[in-house]
Amino acid sequence: MQISGKTVVITGGGRGIGRELAKAFAAKGGRIAALDLNQADLDETVAQCKALGVEARGYVANVTDEQAVIAAMDAVVADLGSVDVLINNAGIVKDSLLLKVKDGVITGKMTLEQWQAVININLTGVFLCGREAAERMVKQGRGGVIINISSVSRYGNPGQTNYTATKAGVAAMAEVWAKELARYGIRAGSIAPGYTKTDILAAMRPEILDKLTAQVPLRRLGEASEIASAAVFIVENDFFTGRCIDVDGGMRI
Ligand SMILES: NC(=O)c1ccc[n+]([C@@H]2O[C@H](COP(=O)([O-])OP(=O)(O)OC[C@H]3O[C@@H](n4cnc5c(N)ncnc54)[C@H](O)[C@@H]3O)[C@@H](O)[C@H]2O)c1
Repeated sequence: MQISGKTVVITGGGRGIGRELAKAFAAKGGRIAALDLNQADLDETVAQCKALGVEARGYVANVTDEQAVIAAMDAVVADLGSVDVLINNAGIVKDSLLLKVKDGVITGKMTLEQWQAVININLTGVFLCGREAAERMVKQGRGGVIINISSVSRYGNPGQTNYTATKAGVAAMAEVWAKELARYGIRAGSIAPGYTKTDILAAMRPEILDKLTAQVPLRRLGEASEIASAAVFIVENDFFTGRCIDVDGGMRI
């Protein structure tokens, strides 16, 4: 698909990888629709995209809220004329071991709240946005592309029962959508970033971050722009569908 003139919807577009995705597609002439929780973050993303000479709009919407997602997708079509690409990027972590055990005594567990919060945003949010974007793409009748942002953690990262389940899930959902939606000219794929420099990692203590970096064969964290270039590849390559691209400096969990 040629990106120029197409509408690209990016969830979690207010910050981090989402903002770099917006800028990468803006640089290719795409019209940008960024969805996020925070208006100020969206305003900054929109300003940076407009500076690249394209139309860009921000939409405050929580991806877990079905009516908000429907309203946001309708607003995108009304404002920008179409939904051609969706990137399901919004995501959170709430890490905990399944069980914390000290001297044979259970001292803690991953709580249901920790489990549910991550499932709601990282999995249900992807389902809702994917479904609503696909509906509009089918109605438009000119195909489309859906990309889910997975993670290297999908292989099973200790301390991330909840996150790993969602990130394996969104890669699997892209496989399903590739098969179900091909007949409408819609492709789907996923990208599994390794540790990438954004706020999601900024919360970690420096010694933990050093330990993480040491696990990466390339001995550095990824740049958000390096994840964005994989998304551009998926959209531009019309023979790509169903698969997951790992962009992780060569690390395996
Ligand atoms: N940074 C990494 O190392 C890394 C590695 C692998 C995968 N990822 C994935 O990449 C994606 C982006 O991560 P990031 O590092 O840019 O994170 P980030 O925290 O910098 O940005 C995430 C964005 O999603 C938004 N968001 C959160 N909940 C939302 C909701 N309910 N509705 C709408 N928007 C919501 C946040 O407001 C934020 O702007 C996530 O799915 C994350 O799991 C990140």
